[in-house]
Amino acid sequence: MSESYAPDAADAFALSQLMFPTTALCISVAAQHGLADVLGDGKMSVEELAERSGTNVVQLGKVLRLLVEEGVFRETQPDVFENSPLSHLLRRGFPRSQYSMARLVGSRWLWTAWGRLADGLATGKPGFEVAYEKTLWAHLAQHPEDGTIFNGAMNDFSEALSDQVAASYPEFSDSGVIADLGGGTGTYLGAILRAHPGVKQGVLVDLPPVIEEARARPDLESMIGSDRLRLEAGDFFEKVPGGIDTYVVKQVMHSWDDAKVVQLLKLCRAASPKARFVAAEFVRDDKSSRFVKNFDLVMTITMNGNVRTEAQYAEVFRAAGYELTRVVPTDTAFSLVEARPV
Ligand SMILES: C[S@@+](CC[C@H](N)C(=O)[O-])C[C@H]1O[C@@H](n2cnc3c(N)ncnc32)[C@H](O)[C@@H]1O
Repeated sequence: MSESYAPDAADAFALSQLMFPTTALCISVAAQHGLADVLGDGKMSVEELAERSGTNVVQLGKVLRLLVEEGVFRETQPDVFENSPLSHLLRRGFPRSQYSMARLVGSRWLWTAWGRLADGLATGKPGFEVAYEKTLWAHLAQHPEDGTIFNGAMNDFSEALSDQVAASYPEFSDSGVIADLGGGTGTYLGAILRAHPGVKQGVLVDLPPVIEEARARPDLESMIGSDRLRLEAGDFFEKVPGGIDTYVVKQVMHSWDDAKVVQLLKLCRAASPKARFVAAEFVRDDKSSRFVKNFDLVMTITMNGNVRTEAQYAEVFRAAGYELTRVVPTDTAFSLVEARPV
């Protein structure tokens, strides 16, 4: 055994404090059982909350007391709870709601992927693919209930910050047609079209079940009806729309390894040789937050993804015939990585 350091009891306690995977799961369970919705703007005893949410009072009390430690819910007097600023965000339809994201983090498939992290380290494969022997996208297409939660979570995340990201790049207004590749159900592209009325058309590209969800969104109906927003179901590794001035992606480059990203970029380069490419992504550096580090791990266990550094972005763009021209910060954790064809 090493003689260089003799850990004391405080060290052992500090480490043991870190060994419970509870916070994310308790947040997810709170969302699943609608606890924040039941509490609304009032206070409630744990007994009443258990009865109204259909949960076991003993287990519910334990979940709530743990979450109170994290600032999610408040205990106003023993066994009486109310929403806190953070737990209000678990209410459905609440401004900036994170309900679907909270449901996503408790998904069984995601916990299974976390459970295979060690296999991932040993093999270099995403834990999800070790466990399920298929890609996450195939799983989501085959399990519509998981797909709907995933798409909802992407919207929660996008809705909270799409307006800020869209406003951070006035140059979007110079584009006649903007295509959002892997644009989910259209939250980000919708925000760009609203913020930049001069853009003639947006083209939303995603896999068929996701495009069907976009088509059903009441808030996009008029843009779709007037053809300002065109929906294109398809696989962006096979075909991307041509006649585009600006391709955008958000949270897509980090989902794929370099070879796949270069494949996608080369298709764009060939389909619209003059179009610029603007990626809304996290850019990793030595000051990256804990959130970005956690996010990078999620990418690793789910899909062989990677949160890249600026130099790594420059390299994939270069390999596909683009030059990284600028990294534009936004008021969010995302940066806009701009590239132009060489
Ligand atoms: C992480 S989500 C990001 C969604 C959206 N851009 C956002 O920021 O909310 C990645 C998206 O890529 C889509 N996608 C994955 N593989 C694809 C493929 N081969 N072709 C088209 N879209 C794909 C997924 O369905 C999903 O909507």
